[in-house]
Amino acid sequence: MQHIEQYQKPFLKYLERFTVEREPKNLYSPINYILELGGKRLRPILTLMTAEVFDEHAEKAMDAALSIEVFHNFSLVHDDIMDDAPLRRGQQTVHEKWNLNTGILSGDAMLILAYQLFENYDAETFRDLAKLFSKTALEVCEGQQYDIDFETRDDVTIPEYLKMIEYKTAVLVGAAMKMGAIVAKASEADQNSIYEFGRFLGIAFQLQDDYLDAFGNPETFGKQVGGDIIENKKTYLYLKTIELGSNDDVLNLKTFMSNLELPNSNKVEKVKALFHKTGAAEATQNAVKDYTNKAFEVLETLHISDDKKQSLRLFGEQLMNRRV
Ligand code: IPE
Ligand code: IPE
Ligand code: MG
Ligand code: MG
Ligand code: MG
Repeated sequence: MQHIEQYQKPFLKYLERFTVEREPKNLYSPINYILELGGKRLRPILTLMTAEVFDEHAEKAMDAALSIEVFHNFSLVHDDIMDDAPLRRGQQTVHEKWNLNTGILSGDAMLILAYQLFENYDAETFRDLAKLFSKTALEVCEGQQYDIDFETRDDVTIPEYLKMIEYKTAVLVGAAMKMGAIVAKASEADQNSIYEFGRFLGIAFQLQDDYLDAFGNPETFGKQVGGDIIENKKTYLYLKTIELGSNDDVLNLKTFMSNLELPNSNKVEKVKALFHKTGAAEATQNAVKDYTNKAFEVLETLHISDDKKQSLRLFGEQLMNRRV
């Protein structure tokens, strides 16, 4: 197996062939814009890596990897509309650069393009990929709806939150890996184990995303720092502050969050201070570690060599320590 960075280069080359100019421009330019905006390309790398883990050439998984990345970017275009986000990867979001309708329709087209890429596989592989894709995409919609519903609820529990992030984020990471395993025609047991590995990593990934949304470096993070606080998101940081804080802390948190007079920058600073003071920030970092370790436990059930397990573990550790 190759080193993680070595999957990125051939993937980006393949992506370049996909993002050609097409008419009508106002439909395809935003698609190419978001796809070329950068990003970590984690999910496609995982698809390619997983194909090799199960002894298939990474190139064979290229269309599945591209499909996952196109779907991911589609979900970001619509997510940024829903979250009223101005910045993505350090640049304007699609609906800010163009407009709302463009974001909606270009996003819709991306979803179809993602699905279409499976046509490049044989009938059996096509069926398995399409089935997994449909299930996953629907779950992502469910997760996104919970996320929005939670904004206006004040009784969200941690188990509800965990289900929400499993759906909006983790199932796609699991599916990215399972697709690599499907292309490689791995056993059903291994396909399911690698999905579980990805799902736990995905939960850790979203917990870390919540953490960075508040505490990331604005110079490098690429998104509006504090966006979740501004949008009243019920993140792990928020829910842990309620659990761990004193009565006064909880009262303050709710007052800051609901005070429409308070400028956003003050609100963000005050809420972040509470996240620290109550130990919620630390608890979030611990949860990232816990879910990463759960993923590592699943690795033991896989029928693959130790050095392959080691490569997957390394990937998990890098994700856990990421700052962007
Ligand atoms: C952002 O995903 C959306 C979440 C699920 C948190 P990434 O952090 O993987 O975004 P890019 O593709 O690297 O920009
Ligand atoms: C994103 O969750 C989940 C999906 C895009 C499906 P977030 O809303 O936390 O992602 P970011 O922080 O905007 O990247
Ligand atoms: Mg968002
Ligand atoms: Mg969102
Ligand atoms: Mg986020």
